[in-house]
Amino acid sequence: MQKTISKNFKTLQGSITIPADKSISHRAVIFSALAKGKSTIKNFSDGQDPKSTLNIFKALGVDIEITTNNKLIINSKAKLLPPTGRLDCGNSGTSMRLIAGILARQKFNSILIGDQSLSKRPMKRIIEPLTLMGAHIETKKYTAPLKIQGQKLHPIEYKTPKASAQVKSCIILAGLGADGGKTKITEPYLSRNHTEIMLKHMGANIEQNGLTISVEKSELSPIDIEICGDISSAAYFIAAALLIPDSKIILKNIGLNPTRTGILDILKTMEANITIIDKKNICGEDVGDISVEYSELKGCEISGEIIPRLIDELPIIAVIATQAEGTTTIKDAQELRAKESDRIKATVDELKKLGADIEEAEDGMIIHGKTKLIGNCSVETYRDHRLAMSLYIAGLICEKEITINNFQWVNISFPKFEELFESLKA
Ligand code: S3P
Repeated sequence: MQKTISKNFKTLQGSITIPADKSISHRAVIFSALAKGKSTIKNFSDGQDPKSTLNIFKALGVDIEITTNNKLIINSKAKLLPPTGRLDCGNSGTSMRLIAGILARQKFNSILIGDQSLSKRPMKRIIEPLTLMGAHIETKKYTAPLKIQGQKLHPIEYKTPKASAQVKSCIILAGLGADGGKTKITEPYLSRNHTEIMLKHMGANIEQNGLTISVEKSELSPIDIEICGDISSAAYFIAAALLIPDSKIILKNIGLNPTRTGILDILKTMEANITIIDKKNICGEDVGDISVEYSELKGCEISGEIIPRLIDELPIIAVIATQAEGTTTIKDAQELRAKESDRIKATVDELKKLGADIEEAEDGMIIHGKTKLIGNCSVETYRDHRLAMSLYIAGLICEKEITINNFQWVNISFPKFEELFESLKA
């Protein structure tokens, strides 16, 4: 699907509720499936990725009822059944990496598959620690399909070379069913900790001590949760309000877990006009409303421990940086090359087409601002939802119209993106 973007409105005004957090939605389904009894999940994400997770647990025999308003009722016997076919993770790395940690310790065999993009993404990072725990996983060149022979697993102590919540969660989920002691995982920097928070809330024996997580074999209690809005989806609206003169918007009920709010910290350094209103805590997760106004921004350096706290937002931060005075340097973000697309190359190539002054580095990007974006061209999404949405926002600040090819990839995380955007136009 081609999408033509031109700015046909003056400014953005109003208040919106952003759809549910994708990371928390995956975890709510996965952990409910492991907890004996009835769990209720309100405001489940309508994105394609969490649906892939949901369909996999249906295929593993879990009773999941989808009612109105994206509410799920999960009745689990805390026992998965052998699937009759291959389990399809679609585009979702979170589904594949987290679910592998559970399937590796079942009494049956299973095969996890993914789409073209997911089948190219690195799985060695989970296969290595799982194998150390006793798992049997067969692959070609450490990529999907993953053929998993269920085994009894034993605990390990493991240092992850990169900060990755998917890898950490995979090992935690394997450790949750491993006999004979504590599994310990240490990361170089703190990655998102939704797994730790939700498992603790559900009664797991899990502890965090600095950068080390310890987990023991545990039985989980069911959960009753209303999922907050996704800060990674909110990021596109925050960007639009900052860049379009006279805008003022409020984004309601957004997840503000500090392991996810790197974008807010960076934008404050860039002198953005952003305030948090009405902060509360729901099932261990910080939640609040975010108010954003048009701002004159300054460039800055983004590197080190903050990178995992804003990893998914870097393409839209690059768009914002084109409109900030001075240079913005993004370093230590090599991991961006192993996402749904090579997000360093894709962001640099496409923003250059629009007229941005942006350079590619091995581990990031250098953006010189402030530059007038011209547009008058077509751009590619590389089958990557975050590229699709970042380019949409870039299109709004171009002087001439742009056409985004294959915009439909937006549905991976945010099917209502455009509809919500329309509601803010003034
Ligand atoms: C996610 C973790 C991050 C992030 C992804 C979702 C999760 O990936 O990029 O979109 O839900 O755990 P990594 O753990 O590979 O950094």
